[in-house]
Formats: sequence, structure tokens, C-alpha cells
Amino acid sequence: MKKYRLLAMLSAAMILLAGCGSDDSSSSAEADKPADGTSAVTDASDGSEAEPAKDKPASERNSKFVETADYPKLKELYKDDFKFGCAISTTIQNTPEYSELVCEQFNSYTAENAMKPEATLDQKEALSDPDKYNEHVPLNFSNMKTCLDYAQEHGFAVRGHTLVWHSQTPEWFFCVGFQKKNGTVDRDTMLKRMENYIKDVLEWTNENYPGLIYAWDVVNEAISDSKGMRKESKWYEVVGEDFVQKAFEYARKYAAADVKLFYNDYNAYQSRKRKDIIEMLQPIVDAGNIDGMGLQSHVGLYLNPIEFKTAIKDYYKKLGLEIHITELDLGKDKSEDWETKQEELYKKLFTAFKELKADGVPLTSVTVWGLTDGMSWRKGENALLFNDDLSRKPAFDGIVAAAG
Ligand code: G3I
Repeated sequence: MKKYRLLAMLSAAMILLAGCGSDDSSSSAEADKPADGTSAVTDASDGSEAEPAKDKPASERNSKFVETADYPKLKELYKDDFKFGCAISTTIQNTPEYSELVCEQFNSYTAENAMKPEATLDQKEALSDPDKYNEHVPLNFSNMKTCLDYAQEHGFAVRGHTLVWHSQTPEWFFCVGFQKKNGTVDRDTMLKRMENYIKDVLEWTNENYPGLIYAWDVVNEAISDSKGMRKESKWYEVVGEDFVQKAFEYARKYAAADVKLFYNDYNAYQSRKRKDIIEMLQPIVDAGNIDGMGLQSHVGLYLNPIEFKTAIKDYYKKLGLEIHITELDLGKDKSEDWETKQEELYKKLFTAFKELKADGVPLTSVTVWGLTDGMSWRKGENALLFNDDLSRKPAFDGIVAAAG
């Protein structure tokens, strides 16, 4: 047993030192409505600032974590199917054992919070000269740099998340003089601010990290939970319902040719929402300004995998779009045997994903929304693949089994 542990430690150390090679793989009645965000500069799951971890050899591995180096590697099992991603936080980046596991398992990186507008817009600088910055709001790329440096160093490909969203985008960004007390600006000013935000982010990331970001969620969650477009959105309120088309027009104008432009939403598999999304995206497809559809997939054990598979096929057949599963997590139910049901559903979903590929559907990326159950935004729902001590859950084994 001792020799085995030593071998596991040595291989873990080699992975840590070598970084995470990414192979050249190609490529809900969902959970409750996602929480409305507040400022998200740190991702600490407990809300505390994540302390950068001191470099420590695997032999000093924190005893609260089990060894993970000998787990099957999801990115390798699915390398001929799609990129396999994880939502990554500063806590994960700064904790060696977390970092080691994400590097071992995944080859696609999505910043859980640190590449969102609230983490990038610079109100302090904007307030220093509101007239100068009225149409071109200053940005602070330090959070994005932390993400992209890590992804580059460890060989991940990156999904950019997200440019235009009603949440985690500060209200001052829509206001005269960048202060709520002054009320919102007019449509034309907001369109300039939108265009310049998209231009600056796409140009800065391409200049500093060319080829690292393979897709951007240009617009996130623009369709309502009931019917039509989401009206409780500063973008909808100030610009109007064509804000989605304008966002994609600007993104196409400034994105490098190798960056795919996605629309991203939750409950996107449900027939009513799917119909509204397809109706909204059709003119954007016709204009050539969108490449893909992101289905977040914050779902539960109620999900019918056949309905899910039908929805994915529908987006492809009707819009001709590439498909990403962008934020997958499967919340438990109240049944005694939820863990077995969760394992079986993860297995059925990944079996369906492989079947879709075999049927010619361009499903090119699947991302789980976090690493361990304790880190998940779905507190207490045990929705992810690893326990808090990094031991693998039956959910993980279900995905391994689906790989065949
Ligand atoms: O950064 C602050 C920190 O300074 C403070 O101490 C702490 C305690 O208040 O809060 C921290 O911000 C939190 C942030 O996550 C970073 O941890 C916010 O309160 C919290 O609301 C935010 O939640 C995020 C949520 O989006 C906000 O909408 C979740 O982590 C994130 O997983 C979730 O992700 C969204 C996707 O982007 C879009 N799809 C839905 C999905 C789930 O809501």
C-alpha cells in the first residue's frame, strides 16, 4: 500500500510540475432561476478572499484531500467527442489539490465569475472623468488576466463567459455619469458603451492571449422564464429588444476569426423556451453573426434524456448552430437512492451526447459547473462529480462508464 501511495504521489507531482497538457481534442424544470449576482471579484466559495496557495510538493498534500492522480481522465475518455470543461474559480486556481484535479480531468476552462462585466468594468476610473468616458467605459483586466494566465500556463482552452448579461453587470454602467441617482442614459449612448465594451474585451484578449479563447457567451439568458424576452434587464430597458442582435453584430465585428460566438441560456431544452430562443436567434443566424448555442443544463434527476437530446438536435437542425453544454450540474432529489439515480442520469446524458456526435450533431464542448459539491452555487444539492475531499462520486463513475 505504501509503494502505491508513493507512486501516486510521484505521478501527482509530475502532473503538477508539468502543468496540464491539453490534448488536441475537438472539440431543466431546471434548477431555480440562477441567483442574481453581486460583485464577483473573488470566487471564494465561502465568500472569503482566496489566499494564493504556497507552492508545496505533493508529498505535503493536505491530508483532508484524497489522491486523485489515478482517476480515469475525463478529457482523455472524451477526447474524440468534445472538449471537457469545468467552471473554475480563484479558489480552485489557488489551492494546489483543486488545481491538480482540474488539470488532470479537464481541457476547457470557464471562469465561474472572474470574466463577467462586474469583474472587468472600472467605476473608479470612469468616475474620475465621466465626460471623457461617457461612451467608452474604462476596463480593468486584472481579474481576466488571472484567469487567462492560469489557463495558458496549464494548457486549457477557454470559453469566455460572458459579455452581455442582465446579471453581474453593475447598474451604474447604464447610468448618466455612472451614478444610479442620475438615471439611465439614452439608447444611443448605451449602444456605444456596449460596442466599446465588447470591442475592448475581444481586442485585449486576442492581443494578449491569441488563440486561447475558442468561444464567447456573447449574450446570456435574454429569454424570460414565462414568454418572450426577459424584460427585467437593464439591457432590454435601455436599449430595447434588439440589444441581442446588436451585441452579436459588435462581437462579429471585433472577434478574431477563430473565436466562436454563442448565445447561452438555462431551461433551453424546454419546448416553449426553445421556440422563443430559436425565434430570437433566427435573424442573427441569417446575418451570419452567431456560431453556436449554449445549453447551460442546470437540471435535476427529473430530466428526460430523450427530451434533452431532441432539443439539442432541434437547435442544430433549425439553426445550423454548433452546440455547447455550458454549465451542467444535476441536483439531487429527496429519494433515498438519489446517488444511484444521479449516476444513471449522468451516464444516460453522456451516452446521448456521444449518440448525437455519431448522428453528426456538432456538439463540441461539455462543461460541468464546478469541481466539488461544496463549491457549487447549488448549495446542498450535491450536483457535481466530486465530494469535498476530492473522492470521486458515482456521478463521475457514470460519465466514465458512458465513455465505453
Ligand atoms: O466576490 C464576492 C465576495 O467579495 C463576497 O465576500 C462574497 C460574499 O457576499 O460574494 C462574492 O460574490 C459572489 C460571487 O458568486 C463570487 O463568489 C456573489 O455574492 C454570488 O452571487 C456569485 O454567485 C455566482 C452567480 O453566477 C451569480 O449570478 C455563482 O458563483 C456562479 O456559479 C453563477 O453562475 C451563473 C452563470 O454565470 C450563468 N448561468 C447561471 C449560473 C448560476 O447562477
